[in-house]
Amino acid sequence: MSSSPASLPRLDGRTILVTGANAGIGYWCAEILAAHGARVLLGCRSAERAEIAVSSIRTQVPGADLGILPLDLGSLGSIASAAAALDERLDAVICNAGVKAADRGVRTADGLDLMVGTNALGHFALLAQLAPALADDARVVAVGSLAHRFAEIDPATLAQPWTGASLRQYGRSKAALMALTFELTRRWKGSARSALCAHPGYAVDPLTPPREGLAPVSAVARALASLSRPLVQGKDAGAAPIVHAAVAADATGGDYWGPGGLLEFRGAPTRVRASEQVRSAAVGADLWSVAEELTGVRFAV
Ligand SMILES: NC(=O)c1ccc[n+]([C@@H]2O[C@H](COP(=O)([O-])OP(=O)(O)OC[C@H]3O[C@@H](n4cnc5c(N)ncnc54)[C@H](OP(=O)(O)O)[C@@H]3O)[C@@H](O)[C@H]2O)c1
Repeated sequence: MSSSPASLPRLDGRTILVTGANAGIGYWCAEILAAHGARVLLGCRSAERAEIAVSSIRTQVPGADLGILPLDLGSLGSIASAAAALDERLDAVICNAGVKAADRGVRTADGLDLMVGTNALGHFALLAQLAPALADDARVVAVGSLAHRFAEIDPATLAQPWTGASLRQYGRSKAALMALTFELTRRWKGSARSALCAHPGYAVDPLTPPREGLAPVSAVARALASLSRPLVQGKDAGAAPIVHAAVAADATGGDYWGPGGLLEFRGAPTRVRASEQVRSAAVGADLWSVAEELTGVRFAV
């Protein structure tokens, strides 16, 4: 089946929260969803950057129904405030915000490893506190990464700042987010709610259509990047598997969606393989307890 955004259903009457929606893939998720009629809440830590994104989406999608939810996923206090401020029902949440590069030893406001704390535990704490606002048939989509396959999840050392190779630091944060999401799938079994993972492949700004005020790229950089188009893709295309997981009729709980091309770097959305570790029920259950302990937030399901 074609999975181009044009093939997505109309989403009028549905409200979708996208974290990190002011830039990159999160921005494109928001623009695509708004173009299909959804009300989109942009969960962002900078009001200024969020307003720029809103203005850009409104230029592309006149009359787009948008809201901003102030949200810093690196701060448990900010997450709690965001959940408390939300006063509408959510049909889907896309856990997209992510730190991809960090100096060693950097921690969140709460002393957690910056990547694990933001990418995985921040979203865990957010979902736990948003749960009462989720529709009975809500979908949660976690943005994973190919890098999850290069990482080992060790719940016992999850909170500690990473000291090894940076790809594994990033990978363990994404593996943890994915394992928690697949655990949520298991815990929601029997309900109409579903939790899925998706990844954008290899998605870069220079191959992404320009948007006023977002990630400026010089003409030279665009020209050079165009040579890489057979291998990688823009962030607009990277958003496609994530949006697909969030709203397409053929996506269901426990799925993992990504680009179907060579090495899963680019291409139309398809189901892809997640590592055994992130799918392990034992790892998921262990991680869930550790996540509750580290965030101090109980996620009752
Ligand atoms: N691009 C790829 O090839 C690729 C591949 C695999 C997975 N991913 C994943 O896809 C997601 C988006 O990546 P991207 O390439 O679009 O990255 P990006 O352009 O750097 O955008 C990241 C977004 O996350 C937000 N963010 C970061 N820390 C945050 C925090 N503490 N609180 C709230 N928002 C925060 C950023 O907001 P600010 O503007 O405030 O920093 C920004 O909106 C990430 O989860 C990434 O790990 C990307």
